[in-house]
Amino acid sequence: MPATAEELSNVLFEDQQPAPDDNRAELIEGLSRGQKQINPKYFYDQKGSELFEQITQQYEYYPARTEKSILINNASEIATYCGEDCVLIEPGSGSCEKVRLLLEKLKPAAYVPLDISADFLYQSAQKLGREFPWLNIHAICADFSDQWQARTELKSGRRVVFYPGSTIGNMEPRFAQAFLSNLREWIGFDGSVLIGVDLQKPDHLLNAAYNDTQGVTAEFNLNVLNSINNIVNSDFNLDNFSHQAFYNSDQNRIEMHLVSKNSQTVTIDGNTIQFETGETIHTENSYKYSLTSFTELSAAAGFTLEKSWLDENQLFSVHYLSVNNTSK
Ligand code: SAH
Ligand code: AVI
Repeated sequence: MPATAEELSNVLFEDQQPAPDDNRAELIEGLSRGQKQINPKYFYDQKGSELFEQITQQYEYYPARTEKSILINNASEIATYCGEDCVLIEPGSGSCEKVRLLLEKLKPAAYVPLDISADFLYQSAQKLGREFPWLNIHAICADFSDQWQARTELKSGRRVVFYPGSTIGNMEPRFAQAFLSNLREWIGFDGSVLIGVDLQKPDHLLNAAYNDTQGVTAEFNLNVLNSINNIVNSDFNLDNFSHQAFYNSDQNRIEMHLVSKNSQTVTIDGNTIQFETGETIHTENSYKYSLTSFTELSAAAGFTLEKSWLDENQLFSVHYLSVNNTSK
């Protein structure tokens, strides 16, 4: 449980963090593959969460400000779709920045931020609770990819999942479909999903967004090694790796990697991982959708796309999905 500065009566914090043993096995398995990989959830220790917030302030990183402008410009209509008094659940809530843009219009019965970054979640929920004393906040520290089933008792009411930031893009499309499909368990037959999705666009804009000139994305990428050193007994040296991010247009995704600068050996809890010069750890994918491909994905997951909102340059999209009760 994070250190408490002050307890607020409108903020409840619940800890369902995964056990360290689960992390260890997953990390070693990913780093033992032919193409070494790390689950992007490990980016988000306290420093990683802070660095992500800094990324959202970078000029090149258009998604955050563009999505915010869509939410601001369409808040009334979005609130009409979501309906009053809903229970608003945000997987990967981060700083809870974007929900602020909807709260006054939406007046939800409760807000449920769910994030893996325990201290950051706690601080963000407390800050939000102070700013909105009327808002019931039930913060849950959990891994949302872990078939989280809303097993927790939540305040009663129609459920709406708010999933902004294009965090869905960090999942392989088949997992994104499974994740969306599983959301139907969270929300029931009368629930809905309000989701932000980044769109395909010219390569140079995408490449710039993940290679900002201030080097914040590079620091965020490298910090995953620190985050891992703090979770398991490993000896990654950040000086021995460099940031790489590029748009893979065949797969419609940004790929982030960490490139080994030399031949080196890293140990994780007694397991030896060998790196050749130039060999990479694949740390993240960020898939970009077209309106057609996202409509197809949501339909395959059992949703009807009721409404889409875009910015004038069609950089980013926000969609309202309802459960298709005729699908399985
Ligand atoms: N929704 C916010 C933050 C997006 S960043 C926004 O739009 O600005 C992605 C967030 O998802 C981070 O806060 C990170 O900690 C969280 N996250 C990533 N993987 C997760 C997982 N498997 N389970 C729970 N939270 C996760
Ligand atoms: C959280 N997620 C949607 C971000 C993205 O754009 O894929 C994470 C990120 N990685 C590098 N920059 C931002």
